[in-house]
Amino acid sequence: MRLIILGAPGSGKGTQAMFIKKKFHIPQISTGEILRDIIKSDNKNYLKTRISNDIKKGNLISDDIIIDLVINRLKCSDCINGYLLDGFPRTLSQAHAIKEAGIVIDYILEIYVSDSEIIERISGRRIHIASGRIYHNKFNPPKINGRDDFTGELLIQRDDDTIETIRNRLSIYHKQKKILLDYYKNLKTFKIFGFPRYYKISGSFSIDKVRNNIFSILVKK
Ligand code: AP5
Repeated sequence: MRLIILGAPGSGKGTQAMFIKKKFHIPQISTGEILRDIIKSDNKNYLKTRISNDIKKGNLISDDIIIDLVINRLKCSDCINGYLLDGFPRTLSQAHAIKEAGIVIDYILEIYVSDSEIIERISGRRIHIASGRIYHNKFNPPKINGRDDFTGELLIQRDDDTIETIRNRLSIYHKQKKILLDYYKNLKTFKIFGFPRYYKISGSFSIDKVRNNIFSILVKK
């Protein structure tokens, strides 16, 4: 199973990706996580500074960097039975690049949430940096305030979870999403080999209900 999980920043992609990877035993390839790992690494190089500055502003990282990272990641042995792409592709060039690499995507799951809900979700989000576990002060609180449930370590707020940045991220997302979905629709219209099945899921329900709705789609197929 090779699937793309698509959705606005804060729509719940990362939260749901954790459930999907566990149930279907496939790795979650989150470009946001890969980039945050590069930022927190000890390397002091130009690339790290560039990535960090772009993420703080909510801008996209250049296609050449991202495509290289993802194509290399997909060559790892854990991807042999499929994977979940979380946050990739985000541009037409990225979508083209995976197609050119001979990668066939089976499903696109779009999680839809209104922009006003997104702002509340992003401002209350806290993460455990080492594991990528995601919490929310109100909707998914940790057992002990500000601490990870499993390690007890401190939770943090992401640098790009500010109101200004989120507005920029949302506006980029809406523009890019249309371009991407048009691209995949065209593959289907012209019956080009390897067009994915597309499902749009409301992300406005509780975390558990969204998870069940996603599972019912993936299990039936
Ligand atoms: P990335 O990390 O991919 O961020 P994003 O797409 O903006 O998505 P988020 O991680 O913010 O949100 P999410 O949808 O995963 O929501 P979550 O589950 O956490 O990318 C970060 C940056 O990296 C980009 O801005 C860009 O600069 C760069 N980048 C990444 N990929 C790139 C690419 N391909 N090309 C170029 N640049 C790239 O949930 C949010 C909150 O809501 C949490 O607190 C959660 O607990 C809560 N929540 C979740 N579900 C529910 C629910 N159903 N009800 C109530 N609360 C919920």
